[in-house]
Amino acid sequence: MEVIVEPGPLPEHGTLVVSIGHEGALGTAAAALDRASGGLIGRALRSAGGELRHGRVIDLLLPAGLALDRLLLLVVGKSEGLGRLDLEQLGGTLAQKLRSLRVREAQVAAPVGLELGVPPAEAVACLALGARLRSYRFTRYGKGDAEDEPQEPQRLRLLLPEGDTAPPASFQAVADAVCRARDLVSEPANVLTPKAFADACAELGTAGVEVEILDREALSGLGMRALLAVAQGSAQPPYVAVMRWRGGRGGDGGKPPLALVGKGVCFDSGGISIKQAQGMEDMKYDMAGAAAVYGAMLALAGRKARADVVGVVGLVENMPSATAQRPGDVVRSMAGKTIEVVNTDAEGRLVLADLLHHTRQRFSPCAVIDLATLTGAVIVALGHERAGLFANDEELASRLAAAGEATGELLWRLPLGKAYEKHVKSTIADLKNVGRGREAGSIAGAVFLQRFVGDTPWAHLDIAGTAWTSRDLPLAGKGATGFGVRLLDRLVAEHFEEAEGARA
Ligand code: BES
Ligand code: MN
Ligand code: ZN
Repeated sequence: MEVIVEPGPLPEHGTLVVSIGHEGALGTAAAALDRASGGLIGRALRSAGGELRHGRVIDLLLPAGLALDRLLLLVVGKSEGLGRLDLEQLGGTLAQKLRSLRVREAQVAAPVGLELGVPPAEAVACLALGARLRSYRFTRYGKGDAEDEPQEPQRLRLLLPEGDTAPPASFQAVADAVCRARDLVSEPANVLTPKAFADACAELGTAGVEVEILDREALSGLGMRALLAVAQGSAQPPYVAVMRWRGGRGGDGGKPPLALVGKGVCFDSGGISIKQAQGMEDMKYDMAGAAAVYGAMLALAGRKARADVVGVVGLVENMPSATAQRPGDVVRSMAGKTIEVVNTDAEGRLVLADLLHHTRQRFSPCAVIDLATLTGAVIVALGHERAGLFANDEELASRLAAAGEATGELLWRLPLGKAYEKHVKSTIADLKNVGRGREAGSIAGAVFLQRFVGDTPWAHLDIAGTAWTSRDLPLAGKGATGFGVRLLDRLVAEHFEEAEGARA
């Protein structure tokens, strides 16, 4: 769906959406139409019956007394008040409704004259963001089972309130970034190889991101043996992409950057510890952490965030073959710590171990956040409702949790600590890559990673349960969610950006 936001007068033709308060209050647009039609809207609301619930749409075809083809009354408001996320989700609801009504083109009047708790121009941007996110589809290879669903509306035009000539800066940039991340996650592994992902990262150069691609030789020179051990079973060569957005004032002499690190296993067969066939096809999305980092970098560049952020993604494929690593192998990680690879299916932590070490050593970041589809166990713990949050820093943890609540990309903190560190002790190496069977699997993964971050403020998001959805969500249909992009963008906006005008 094409979603545009621009100033303009209330249209007299076509399909128009106007907002109505949940207590039946008419906003400025609805009041004007009510007058022009001799009371049509009041009559419609009285005869609609039922509650005027937030999100309800009352559909008036060929509204008498008006030249419009169709007038949709959209109920906006809750007794407890609205936030930005409610308006984003309402935009999603509207997009779905327009699809099921088979509306090809609609305009939305600015929600002026209603007490929304969010300024009208911002409310418009929230609606627009939600509509874009909810109407996303990955159709590159056909429509799939959406074949006989109604045609998607082609165009949604949201009108800004009079006097506001520009939409709040960032919503298109953020929507673009989420959709790009979803594209990457949706692509099958025969298309989105580590090389193809690295090429996509390189293209961020056009958005103003500095990108460096490390190939096998470079990784080998750096000593990233744990990452390379995962990749060695695949015919697809590994890459690491280092992306840097310097939007802060400081440049090189400035404050240390925030670092984002992503697991980019383009396909996880399990390796020699091979996974069962059922569901293995899902493991094309084992690169969703890297896609979230990619998307966050794109969002920051797209909205010209005043922050210095580095994104590092490890792009590999985990395959069984004659060259694959074996269970029981011991690798010496870049940090120098030796790892007993008890299970080749616990590969994400091997990749991240080297990435985390490299990122700390090279950038001395003020904080590191890694995102990874790390464990099936996090789905057992939290379902698909929230991602697991682990952190060695209280402030970073609470900021991330708050950014999650604000964007609807929800997190829930799980513990680290001495008792769990014992779970990854090895008898022959510094640590082993699995914990104690089915006990605390996600925590075992997290304490393993913690061994590679030293005293840098660090958080780990286990997004195995939230990167992909088999049910429709308020802001995403079935498939890739792009989880993490909006969360990271919001975190940066709230805590890592210089104040407006602070830029030289
Ligand atoms: N990529 C998987 C985790 C995963 C599972 C992601 C389900 C998304 C959905 C990860 O590499 C993995 O295989 N983890 C193992 C760890 C175990 C061998 C210690 C797991 O969760 O079983
Ligand atoms: Mn695995
Ligand atoms: Zn994996």
